[in-house]
Amino acid sequence: MRTVSVQLGNRSYAIKIAPGLLNQLGRECARLKLGARCAIITDTNVGKRYAKAAFNSLATAGFSPSLIVVPAGETAKSLKTVQICYDLLAEHRLERKSFIVALGGGVVGDLAGFVAATYLRGIEFVQVPTTLLAQVDSSVGGKVGVNLKAGKNLVGAFYQPRLVLCDLDTLGTLPVREFRAGLGEVIKYGIISDAKLFARLERDLPKLLRRESKTLADVVARCCEIKAEVVGQDEMEGGLRAILNFGHTIGHALENVSGYGKYLHGEAISIGQVAAAGLSQKISGLPARDVLRIENLLQAAGLPVEVKLNPARRKKLFAAMRHDKKVSGGEIKFVLATQIGRVQFGCQIPAALIEPALNLQLSTIN
Ligand SMILES: NC(=O)c1ccc[n+]([C@@H]2O[C@H](COP(=O)([O-])OP(=O)(O)OC[C@H]3O[C@@H](n4cnc5c(N)ncnc54)[C@H](O)[C@@H]3O)[C@@H](O)[C@H]2O)c1
Ligand SMILES: [Zn+2]
Repeated sequence: MRTVSVQLGNRSYAIKIAPGLLNQLGRECARLKLGARCAIITDTNVGKRYAKAAFNSLATAGFSPSLIVVPAGETAKSLKTVQICYDLLAEHRLERKSFIVALGGGVVGDLAGFVAATYLRGIEFVQVPTTLLAQVDSSVGGKVGVNLKAGKNLVGAFYQPRLVLCDLDTLGTLPVREFRAGLGEVIKYGIISDAKLFARLERDLPKLLRRESKTLADVVARCCEIKAEVVGQDEMEGGLRAILNFGHTIGHALENVSGYGKYLHGEAISIGQVAAAGLSQKISGLPARDVLRIENLLQAAGLPVEVKLNPARRKKLFAAMRHDKKVSGGEIKFVLATQIGRVQFGCQIPAALIEPALNLQLSTIN
């Protein structure tokens, strides 16, 4: 088993990574001396496969679990579902010492984490991420929340879990498109902070696509290490944490203008990263061969690297970029690479420069 620790003083916690960890859930929670009563929050897809194992593991270790199953998909990340969860927690008499297990992808993790952060002013929670994206990204770092009609993740909190258990076996049932989308974030870690990881991904991509256990374990652990390091230095996103948003300004805008649902998040940020690499070549000196390596790796992972937009859509995309929640004072701030493995954040780029620099990736159709 690999263990990565997130260092946040008395809120520090471990991320454990190995096959078969779901069966250890109860034992791991017992080790943390969590209260007897708990609720597993999961979605319909994950629940039918893994809820029983989680439930039995907790029960065998002496806990009294209850199960809350929400619909699968982004729409469950809503205040309406939060309300339903609160009512069920109260019905099952969860109290201050009780805890929540988030069993599922990023949707369940963000939702269940937000419920944990706010029910009774906060009860403990454990993340059991079951998508690649959730294992390398959303379950680590304590950002929890839900969507509003006005936009994604507009209500939330920073609230750290007590433990993250990444059972690599659960990735075996993940649909291939979801797995590839997760690779979009994996590749991002190489670009923002680890040239060696990037080179390994180029080399071992076929093994990774076959979901080979050892490669998967190494890669998931390395991504978690990078995220843990960044979050340990900048929990509340005052500065450095922004580097995790490489490719995201354009990616989020693309998700927004294409209507949520057309692109998976990992697909949108794949296009966003290629565009950000192009921008980096023009502005921060990213060598042309690195731009090409980034594009090639994302493409080899089965991810989209360009998008065709008609002029109206294109205009909307730029408007959406300016409305991104991370925009401050009207300036669009970008994370730009100087070489693979190294980025700068908070780069203010005048809008007039962005559009021409993006021309390659966002080719115009009439
Ligand atoms: N908190 C953060 O820091 C952070 C970071 C990145 C993304 N996010 C959020 O994460 C969400 C996306 O997460 P996601 O990509 O994991 O999507 P998801 O949770 O919707 O999961 C994708 C799909 O796979 C299914 N699934 C999950 N695990 C499975 C398994 N092991 N086998 C079979 N099917 C499985 C789900 O039911 C769902 O249909 C978004 O809401 C995004 O905003 C949060
Ligand atoms: Zn992302």
